[in-house]
Amino acid sequence: MKRILSGIKPSGTLTLGNYIGAISKFVELQKKRPEDEFYLFVADLHAITIPQETALLRKRTRDVAAMYLAAGIDPERTVLFIQSEIKEHAELGYLLQCFTYIGELERMTQFKDKSKKGETGLSSAFFSYPALMAADIILYDADYVPVGEDQKQHLELTRDIAARFNNRFGAFFTVPEPLIPEVGARIMDLQDPTKKMSKSEDSDKGCITLYDDRATIMKKIRSAVTDSVGIVRFDPENQPGLANLITIYAALSGLSPAEVVSKFPGPGYAPFKDACADLVADAIGTLQKRYEDVISSGTLDAILDRGRDVAGKVAFKKLEKAKQKIGLGRKR
Ligand code: AMP
Ligand code: TRP
Repeated sequence: MKRILSGIKPSGTLTLGNYIGAISKFVELQKKRPEDEFYLFVADLHAITIPQETALLRKRTRDVAAMYLAAGIDPERTVLFIQSEIKEHAELGYLLQCFTYIGELERMTQFKDKSKKGETGLSSAFFSYPALMAADIILYDADYVPVGEDQKQHLELTRDIAARFNNRFGAFFTVPEPLIPEVGARIMDLQDPTKKMSKSEDSDKGCITLYDDRATIMKKIRSAVTDSVGIVRFDPENQPGLANLITIYAALSGLSPAEVVSKFPGPGYAPFKDACADLVADAIGTLQKRYEDVISSGTLDAILDRGRDVAGKVAFKKLEKAKQKIGLGRKR
């Protein structure tokens, strides 16, 4: 039996990128691996590394949990919880900072991008965030961590930190492996296919959120930037905008990019764009309906309470042992 764990920050609005790259893959994995254990959490401690508004943060935290359920995770088979309700994350996060080099954190793309943009007032927690992420994972001895491409570097650092601890104190933490999807690990902005689709982008024409209505989705996909070649081909290098739409179509339909291409012999992109827009609008429409069902069922709190209790026990034991290894406190 393996333990599979992942998390999403409740900062900004969930996007089609989150759904394709992370949420839907988690659901698929759960269906494919009936013998494994699934841990899933809302990373609210990560969200506050960037300033958040109190009421909105609280709302988004619940929304992310509800959206996971709407996407089809099985509440019976998932330990679903809110990160900040388990104190051990922050505590192990601190301990792991003591085993993480400043140079390693400085090499993280997410940090480099923000500091390159000249953003001032970045918190020190934003800088040390990857040590907290490592704690989230190894606290539970997770074997596999399904994430999108942008988290690969953080996972590599997590592996290094876990291995470093193990070298020093003897085998203690499981060294986790990332699971990055073959199709859809990096959905790009519809207006600028060189940029990742992201919930914190200013212009939202390039970003489809899981709360957009059908008309908005149709408009955003129809006006997605493509090229003047006029033939539907999967060529990420020369036709990046089109390749992104093909990837979206492939991920939502379960077809390969080549199979998608063969359905649209062309010429022109309009029929393909229309079909793609319909597919996305159907998928998001279904998700929204199920999201409403989850909210109105009133079961969310009970699920989150159970998740907190189960995860809390595992986390408590592991952290106590880690502190003993390091030599903190009195010997027990
Ligand atoms: P975040 O919203 O940054 O907490 O990301 C949550 C999950 O969604 C992570 O596994 C990310 O890798 C994934 N993700 C975020 N944006 C995208 C995107 N544009 N394409 C694919 N996966 C994404
Ligand atoms: N850092 C991740 C993101 O921005 C969210 C996250 C936090 C996470 N802790 C995690 C993902 C642990 C997987 C495992 O997307």
